[in-house]
Formats: sequence, C-alpha cells, structure tokens
Amino acid sequence: MTATAEAPVTSSEPDWAEPLRVEVIMGSVRQGRFGPVVTDWFVSKCAQRADLRVGVVDLAEGTADLAERIGRADAVVVVTPEYNHSYPGPLKTAIDGVGVEWRGKPVAFVSYGGLSGGLRAVEALRVVFAELHTVTVRDTVSFHLAHQRFTADGDAVDEAGTGAAATVLLDQLTWWARALRAARARAPYGG
Ligand SMILES: Cc1cc2nc3c(=O)[nH]c(=O)nc-3n(C[C@H](O)[C@H](O)[C@H](O)COP(=O)(O)O)c2cc1C
Repeated sequence: MTATAEAPVTSSEPDWAEPLRVEVIMGSVRQGRFGPVVTDWFVSKCAQRADLRVGVVDLAEGTADLAERIGRADAVVVVTPEYNHSYPGPLKTAIDGVGVEWRGKPVAFVSYGGLSGGLRAVEALRVVFAELHTVTVRDTVSFHLAHQRFTADGDAVDEAGTGAAATVLLDQLTWWARALRAARARAPYGG
C-alpha cells in the first residue's frame, strides 16, 4: 500500500494564533428594541479577549455591505430575539441576502426573549444555517425574561453565570474559527 502524501502547507496559510475577525449581527430592527442592550453586553465580553477583532452589524442601519463583511469574517455571532416562537423576519432576509460567503464559517448564537430565552429562535436558525454550509456552535448564551436580566448600566444581573456562558461560547467559536480558517486556506470548501 502506498502512503498518501499530505498536502503541503502553503505560505499563505494563516497562523493559528492570528486574531480572528468576528461579526456580531444584531437581529432586531424593531423600534424600541432591547437588542442593543444584549449586543453591547456580548461585545464587551468579546473585547476582553485579545484574540478577537469584533464588528457589529446593525440590520436597522442597512445590509448593503453584509455579504462583504461575512466574506471577510472568520466567525459570526447572531444576537436574536424570539418573535412568535421563531427569529425576526428581517434577520432571515439579511441572512438570505448573503450567499457563498457563509460557506465554511462558524456561527454562534446569543438569544433573548420571554420565557424561552429565545432558544426556539436559535433552534430554527440552526436549520437555516445548515442549508448555508455553516457550522453552528453548540452552546449559546440565552436570556429569558431578558428585560429583567440587565442593570441600568448594561451589566448582566447574573454576571458570573452569563459571563461563564459567554466564555464557553467564545471558546467553542474560536476553535471552529481557527480550524475552518486554516482549512479554507488549504483548500476551497467543496460544498
Ligand atoms: C411580536 C413579538 C412576538 C414575541 N414572541 C415571543 C415568543 O414567542 N417567545 C418569547 O419568549 N418572547 C416573545 N416575545 C418577547 C420578545 O422576545 C422580547 O420582547 C424581546 O425583547 C424582543 O426583542 P427586541 O426588543 O430587541 O425586538 C415577543 C415579542 C414581540 C414584539
């Protein structure tokens, strides 16, 4: 039997430790929305990590450059509320407006809502993102009865618990982001 030679690592392959570009998509566009409170909190968690370069996509401000931003991103986090047991319509429209740029990218979810904490929206989004050839991260950060879960300063009431959940999410997301970045550099995604 002949041993198969490994594909050579090209010089363009990024270093594993190189900072990751993460786009955080704020999924709510509603007037009077609570989304910015949750998004700002999560972005502040990202800012504590030296390995991330974070941008925020506010769908209420337009989506003209969304495909280009997803194309450049190593990872995406969707911050979604739950409306009638699912995700917001404008969020779906924005996701659908991006095509091949999604392929081979990891996607994580921060959710919020009433009793469900937005988890039904997340599970519905996983089906959508599977179709787009992404990898969705298992663990989420979710806020049930979200309006009661933040102080006036924007801190989480349960900072220890939710902060730990954000750490787990980001550890999983960054592992996938590094692995997939290296894989995409080595060979185009075959889907
Ligand atoms: C039209 C509508 C439908 C909602 N449906 C649900 C729901 O099915 N489950 C839930 O847990 N919360 C539900 N909520 C509560 C929202 O998730 C909560 O108000 C959240 O803050 C909405 O996010 P936003 O303020 O950023 O738009 C609903 C809110 C609205 C406005």
